[in-house]
Amino acid sequence: MTEVVHTPRVFSGIQPSGDLHLGNYLGALKRFAEAQDQGIETLYCMVDLHAITVWQNPADLKRATRELAAGFIASGIDPEKSMLFNQSQVPEHAQLAWIFNCVARMGWLNRMTQFKDKAGKNRENASVGLFAYPNLMAADILIYHATHVPVGEDQKQHIELTRDIATKFNHDYGVDFFPITEPVIEGAATRVMSLRDGSKKMSKSDPSDMSRITMTDDADAIAKKIRKAKTDPEALPSEVEGLKERAEARNLVNIYAALSDNTVDQVLSDVGGKQFSEFKPMLVELAVDKLAPISTEMGRLMQDPAEIDRILAKGAQKARAIAAPILDQTYEIVGMVRG
Ligand code: TRP
Repeated sequence: MTEVVHTPRVFSGIQPSGDLHLGNYLGALKRFAEAQDQGIETLYCMVDLHAITVWQNPADLKRATRELAAGFIASGIDPEKSMLFNQSQVPEHAQLAWIFNCVARMGWLNRMTQFKDKAGKNRENASVGLFAYPNLMAADILIYHATHVPVGEDQKQHIELTRDIATKFNHDYGVDFFPITEPVIEGAATRVMSLRDGSKKMSKSDPSDMSRITMTDDADAIAKKIRKAKTDPEALPSEVEGLKERAEARNLVNIYAALSDNTVDQVLSDVGGKQFSEFKPMLVELAVDKLAPISTEMGRLMQDPAEIDRILAKGAQKARAIAAPILDQTYEIVGMVRG
C-alpha cells in the first residue's frame, strides 16, 4: 500500500447556538483568522446539523447561524480566502456521516464524555443524533481530507474518534484514503475564564451577564464589565509564577496578552507592580479598541441577512467542489453502484 501524502488543509466548526463571547473570539475565531492568513487552505463551518441534536427553535436557529457568520467575518475571516458556509448546505457531510455510522462501534461512542455530560441522567430520552454526533463531526472533517483541526480541549476526544474512524475505514477496505487528522488544541492563554469566577470557563450559560463579554457588547458594556470584573487586592506580579494562586488576576492578564498579541511574560514585564486600579483602565482601553469594532461590524452585517445568505451559499458551493469527489470515491471504495 503506498503512503498518500495529504496537503495541509484546516477545517473547524462552531455550533450556531447564540451568544458568541470573548472565549469564542480568542479561543476560536481569532485563531481561525490567523490560520487563514498563513496561506493554508481553510474551511470554516457553522454546524447547524449538530445544533439540532438538542431542540432548537427554528427562527432562533436561523438567526444564530447568520449571527455566527457575521461573527466570523467581523473577526477577520475573509470569504474570498476561506470557505465559510453552514453545514446543511453541503449534503456530503450527512452522507459521509452515514457511512461512518457503519464504521464506528457502539463501544467507542459509549465512551464519549460529552454525550454523557449532555445527556445527563436522562439518556433514554436523548436524541439518537446526540449519540451519533461525533460520527457527523468526523464526517465534517474527513469529507475534506482535512489534516488540521483547531479545537478546544473539550473536543480532543472527538478528534481521537475521528482518527479511529479514519484508521478503521482505511484498514477495513485496504486503502490509504482518509488522513489521520491532527488536533490543534488552544493554549492556556486563549482559555478565557468567567469575569466573576476565575475557576470557571467563560460561558453563555452562566446566569450572570457580567461574567462574560459578548461579541455584540458595545464599548460601554465592555468597559463596565471589565471595571466590575473580580480581582484581588494585590499588585500584579512581574513573573508568571506570581499568578499561580490568583485565578482572576491570571485571567485578566491572559486576556490582555491575547488581545495585544503578546505573551503573558511580556505583559507582566510591563505591568508587574501595578495595582488593578491602574491595570484595569489599560485593559478597558485595549479591549474596547479591539472588540468594539467587531461588534459594530457584526451589527452592520446583521442589517443585511440576504447578503450573509449569499456569502454562505457561495462558500458552500466552493466546499462542495472538494467534498463531492471525496464522497464519490468513498462510495466507490465501499461498493456502491454508481451510474
Ligand atoms: N463539536 C464541536 C463543538 O461543539 C463543533 C464541531 C462540529 C466541530 N464539527 C466539527 C469542530 C468539526 C471541529 C471540527 O465545539
